[in-house]
Amino acid sequence: MGDSRLILALDVYERERALQIARETADYLWAIKVNWPLIIGSGLGIVTELKEETGLPVIADLKLADIPNTNRLIAGRVFEAGADYIIAHSFVGSDSVRAVMELGKTIIVVEMSHPGAREFIQPVTDKLIELANHLKPFGVIAPATRPERVAYIRSKLKPGIKILTPGVGAQGGKAGEVLKAGADYIIVGRSIYASENPRESVRRIYEELEV
Ligand code: XMP
Repeated sequence: MGDSRLILALDVYERERALQIARETADYLWAIKVNWPLIIGSGLGIVTELKEETGLPVIADLKLADIPNTNRLIAGRVFEAGADYIIAHSFVGSDSVRAVMELGKTIIVVEMSHPGAREFIQPVTDKLIELANHLKPFGVIAPATRPERVAYIRSKLKPGIKILTPGVGAQGGKAGEVLKAGADYIIVGRSIYASENPRESVRRIYEELEV
């Protein structure tokens, strides 16, 4: 649906299963996010196939964290395969992020949703937000597990830079709360693809976001 704010994290290995879930859920999605499990299991061609099959944007969540040249070599092939967005780590510095941004739309990580994010990432989030405000990527990743952090990041981030939040469902985040805190898009994986009826699960979350 054109107005959807929901992104499916399609973290399965198998090509057929991925395409099947994508077809079943596409009506309720803004975009599909692919991560290493699916790329390792099915090959990079899955990006092209998912786009052809659903017509939705594809986000390649590679969390690139390398030197500029290697980031460029990887991102070049992934954008060529049809990815509309690539997720990159920003802690490696602005030159590495710029290398990806020069090739296509980029989303950078400023904080993560798992408990360990408190150890190293959260202490430098302010600096990563500064970097985002300077480079102006399409968006940043912020943790749905901590709505107060989403609100904080929104308050510091320049308008126009989108906030995408994983961590709803399996990791404990609540979709409604995170949207209220300022997220633009919600990323959901296991609660949809690992459920008995992915279409029903995605519909329920979609409707929760509409109210
Ligand atoms: P689940 O199954 O937990 O899947 O709904 C979430 C998806 O999002 C990714 N993920 C993150 N990516 N920063 C990121 O850049 C994060 O804080 C984060 N938390 C979850 C995860 O890899 C999976 O694809």
